Amino acid sequence: MTLRAVVRGVGHFLPARVVENAEFEASLDTTDEWIKSRSGIERRHFATESDTTSSMATAAAQAALKDAGMDVDDIDAIVVATSTADLTFPSAATMVQAQLGMERGFAFDVQAVCAGFVYALSNANALILSGQAERVMVIGAETFSKIMDWTDRSTCVLFGDGAGAVFLEAQDGAGTSADRGILATDLNSDGRHRDLLYVDGGVSTGTSGYLRMQGNQVFRHAVEKLASTAHTAMDRAGVTADDVTWVVPHQANIRIIQGTAKKMNVPMERVVVTVQDHGNTSAASIPLALSTARARGQIKDGDLVVTEAIGGGLAWGSVVLRW
Ligand code: UT7
Repeated sequence: MTLRAVVRGVGHFLPARVVENAEFEASLDTTDEWIKSRSGIERRHFATESDTTSSMATAAAQAALKDAGMDVDDIDAIVVATSTADLTFPSAATMVQAQLGMERGFAFDVQAVCAGFVYALSNANALILSGQAERVMVIGAETFSKIMDWTDRSTCVLFGDGAGAVFLEAQDGAGTSADRGILATDLNSDGRHRDLLYVDGGVSTGTSGYLRMQGNQVFRHAVEKLASTAHTAMDRAGVTADDVTWVVPHQANIRIIQGTAKKMNVPMERVVVTVQDHGNTSAASIPLALSTARARGQIKDGDLVVTEAIGGGLAWGSVVLRW
């Protein structure tokens, strides 16, 4: 018998405010055409006055619980992947714990920027495999609209807000790649590249700061590192490109998604794409895409899913799971 962390439910929340590319044309030297052709993004959601990272995370978790047919008392632990927690501390995860009305267990945040959800899934898997928790709510939630420099056209048109959640439960498997649940993970980081994507604020400046990115430099690293981490995780899981039902990539740029799929030898028909509607929602992008894909009827029980993401740090990684 091999213990596995199996997906029991998935859900998401998107704030009501939708901003089309054309809206930026009034205040910036940019065009819908440039944004669409360079990134694939057509629109994104931005938090309204009443939305915070923790409120969106809570809504996504409630949707995932409902999908799982479980309630708050069934959760042993909450892991929130975010770089935009409401406050420096406490963690967004403890805020979600309180908002859900959960009075036991434990909750903490994981901060690996756009790779955050892959890191959080991997950590939740480790909690389950080590027997520290049986049921873990893994959430990716961001309000990147709060850290945008609205005068910087090279970044502010790319990001969006939202939250997604996946509810994992321990289940015995046979120890083969036919098992349901997380089959393999691969995490990497290289702090030498920290200046390519960062926020210029924090406790050292006394401000929350703005996102700064050398987009074309990040782009250069992305395809190669994403394909490589996906291959490593797939090798560990004992699966090949032919076995993959869906690649669910971090949704930063359609050209990165296409380039990575090509290197992975997976046709675009088997890649979940939401970047056109969500923009780059950092740690929320993969769970948002998983939940959207389920709602579209794309991911079905038993499907083999490969997720991969890269972001500030640089930090990158991949998780292979059978739904
Ligand atoms: O999620 C975390 C990881 N992040 C990413 O994966 C993002 C990775 N990078 C990218 O997605 C792409 O690099 C971008 C979409 C950010 C940019 O696309 P690019 O093809 O790499 O363009 P570029 O940065 O090389 O810029 C090309 C030109 C520049 O003008 P010059 O220097 O050639 O005259 C920019 O100033 O496009 C200009 N530009 C814009 N023009 C119109 C930059 N932003 C804009 C804009 N509208 N919004």
